[in-house]
Amino acid sequence: MKSPRAFYKPLAIGAPEPFRDIPVSLERMIHFVPPHIEKMRAKVPDLIDKVDVVLGNLEDAIPADAKGEARNGFIQMALENDFGTTGLWTRVNCLNSPWFLDDILEIVEAIGDKLDVVMLPKVEGAWDIHYLDQLLAQLEAKGGLSKPILIHAILETAEGVKNVEQIAAASPRMHGMSLGPADLAASRGMKTTRVGGGHPDYAVLSDAGDTGSRTAYQQDLWHYTVAKMVDACLSYGIKPFYGPFGDFSDPQACESQFRNAFLMGCLGAWSLHPSQIEIAKRVFSPDPAEVAFARKILDAMPDGTGAVMIDGKMQDDATWKQAKVIVDLAKLVASKDADLAQVYGF
Ligand code: GLV
Ligand code: MG
Repeated sequence: MKSPRAFYKPLAIGAPEPFRDIPVSLERMIHFVPPHIEKMRAKVPDLIDKVDVVLGNLEDAIPADAKGEARNGFIQMALENDFGTTGLWTRVNCLNSPWFLDDILEIVEAIGDKLDVVMLPKVEGAWDIHYLDQLLAQLEAKGGLSKPILIHAILETAEGVKNVEQIAAASPRMHGMSLGPADLAASRGMKTTRVGGGHPDYAVLSDAGDTGSRTAYQQDLWHYTVAKMVDACLSYGIKPFYGPFGDFSDPQACESQFRNAFLMGCLGAWSLHPSQIEIAKRVFSPDPAEVAFARKILDAMPDGTGAVMIDGKMQDDATWKQAKVIVDLAKLVASKDADLAQVYGF
C-alpha cells in the first residue's frame, strides 16, 4: 500500500501531475466505433456532435487479422477530427494479448495529447492497473504530455469482481469502470448467451395459492454486480457505467436495463448501435419532472439543513443531498444540450 503522500506523485520524471478529482464531463453514452472499417471512420465527424464519448474499439469484435488496421484506423480518426468537448477513448486489447503493448506504445506516441481515456478490458486486480499506470506515465514523460491519460477498467471476470474495491482504489488515474456482462457471464460460468439484460428463467415464483396458478417474476441478473461496482466506484470518487446491451432488436429491454443502472448510480452505458445513442441520452439525462421537484427542494432549503414539507413529502438534509445529485447532473446535461437546458429551465 502506497503512502498517502506518494499516491499523487507522477510515476515518471516529467509526467504530468495526476488529477486529484476526475474532470467533470458528461458521458451518458460511450459510442463504440470499429476503426478498421473506413465507412465507419467516415461517420466520425457526424458522430462527434451526437454522442458524449467516441471510443475506437481495438479489442473483442475486431478480427485478429485486423488488429493493426484497427489501431492505425483509430490513430487516423483521432488525427483527422477535432473532438471539442466530446471524449476520445480507446478500448485496447487485454494485457495478456500480443497486441496490447503496440496499442499503447503507438497510440500514446501518435495522439496521446488528444486521448482522454484508455479502456482496459478483463482487469483482474490492482496489479493490472499499476502496470498500465506506470507505462502511461513513462510514455507521457517521453512525449512531453501535459494532461494525464485516464484508465477505465472493464469489470468482466470473477476475479475482477472479487477485487473491485482494490481496482477502484489502485491509482489516481482511475476514471471509472463498466460492467462487461458477456465476458463476466463466461468467466463465472453463468448459463446465458446474452450480452447484458435479463433472462426469462432467472425468476422467483409466487406461492402456490388455492388455485394452483403461479406467477414467475423475472429478476435482474446483474443487480448484485452493478451494486457492488457502484459502491466501489463512488467510495473512491470514480464513475460507474453499465456496459453493452447486445440485442439491438429489443430497445425496450435495453432502456429498462440502462434505467435500472442509472437509478442505482451509473452515469452512462455503451452504445454499440446508433439506435442506442438516443436510448442512453434519454435514460442518463435526469427526468425533467424529477429535476423540477429537486429544484423545489433546493429552493426551499437554501442552506441544506432543517426539515420542510413539499407536496406532502418530508424533506431534510439528506433529501437535499439527493436533490443536489439530480440538479448537478441536470446542469451538466444542460451545458451540452440546449434542448434539455430549455426543458429543465436553466
Ligand atoms: C464487454 O466487453 C463484455 O464482455 O460484456
Ligand atoms: Mg468483454
